[in-house]
Amino acid sequence: MDAAEFRRRGKEMVDYVADYLENIEQRPVYPDLEPGYLRSLIPTEAPLEPESYEEIMHDVERVIMPGAASPACTELETVMLDWLGKMLHLPESFIAGTHGHGGGVIQGTASEATLMSLLAARCKTIRQILVTDSKKSESEILSKLVAYTSDQAHSSVERAALIGAVMMRKVPTDEHYAVREEMLRKMVEEDKAAGLIPFYFCATLGTTPSCAFDHIMELGPLCKSASCSQLQSLRLLMAGSSDGSI
Ligand SMILES: Cc1ncc(COP(=O)(O)O)c(C=O)c1O
Repeated sequence: MDAAEFRRRGKEMVDYVADYLENIEQRPVYPDLEPGYLRSLIPTEAPLEPESYEEIMHDVERVIMPGAASPACTELETVMLDWLGKMLHLPESFIAGTHGHGGGVIQGTASEATLMSLLAARCKTIRQILVTDSKKSESEILSKLVAYTSDQAHSSVERAALIGAVMMRKVPTDEHYAVREEMLRKMVEEDKAAGLIPFYFCATLGTTPSCAFDHIMELGPLCKSASCSQLQSLRLLMAGSSDGSI
């Protein structure tokens, strides 16, 4: 889109919004749609060729406008992140699909994404423990949770632990500034012996200070193994950055 078309389309968009407001009574007050309605209306894979502006606006009217803002945009986000997951050839477990437990959401910043993952892991771990030991209080469990990250990780990872009110331990790195399995395992075992509950590890791929990559092929299986903590596996977040571009 060149500057001239950008000017034209921008003005058309102002008209579109004004028309919407002027004629709002002709649209349904609340959509008569079921959750998941959008998935069947758009392709399951990302298009290989770009579409024209007219085609895109036609799709906005056909697919997005019949829904209320939040469900429609959330559904679009889920389907489009499946597109991205498929383009990256991620395993099926990362794809939302129609029944899946995977899928992605877009966060505003990398710091926010890290915080969300830590809070989600914290919530799941506490719930899991309460299922088997309902006598424990949430605050008692919270005081024992411990998260881990590389000593090279960005400060936002440590900040997520502060906001999430959990302990965070920095795992020492090797001569290439990368975390290895044995380093994390040692800390997890020490903490378990001290009665703490390891629940989260944030691996870094291309750390901000040194561009190092943690050894995730070794660390993934460690996090997955239930023996890693009393009840649950460590939840693994992979945070990537290279020279500040995330
Ligand atoms: C690895 C890593 N995580 C998090 C951040 C913070 O990113 P944001 O400003 O999007 O929260 C950066 C910023 O450079 C980063 O390199």
